[in-house]
Amino acid sequence: MDDSTRDMLIEAAHRVRQNAYCPYSEFAVGAAILDDNGNVHVGVNVENASYPVGTCAERTALCSAVSAGAQSFIALALVTASEESVAPCGMCRQALLEFAPTLPLILATPSGDWQETTLDAILGMQLDPKAVTDNRKR
Ligand code: THU
Repeated sequence: MDDSTRDMLIEAAHRVRQNAYCPYSEFAVGAAILDDNGNVHVGVNVENASYPVGTCAERTALCSAVSAGAQSFIALALVTASEESVAPCGMCRQALLEFAPTLPLILATPSGDWQETTLDAILGMQLDPKAVTDNRKR
């Protein structure tokens, strides 16, 4: 990924973070995912009084992208409030894996520091979607 693509994605995640709905954790997160048509889809964490109902920014961005017709992705940027870069939770890793098992991830801080990794680098022994599709009705 070139520098301008990376900076553009971080900026999109940073900008959308202000829309986070997080009255319970007060930990605002913004995510931006770039699809293979060059479109950027953003998402924030959306919490709920029934805590488990809340959704992370990464899955909000992914669901928005898929809803817009995208299923192939180039990279995802994540911006949180933390000065240490934060990695996606296990549920988001599994959600992203469905579409992009080796997705490049840019984990950024509000002050502009960033760290790049990939989804496969931070996954362990994940549920491979193929294990399900290959074994239907068995
Ligand atoms: N959160 C995200 O949206 N993405 C992450 O990568 C880390 C956690 C949200 C979930 C919850 O709304 C709040 O941050 C605290 O965990």
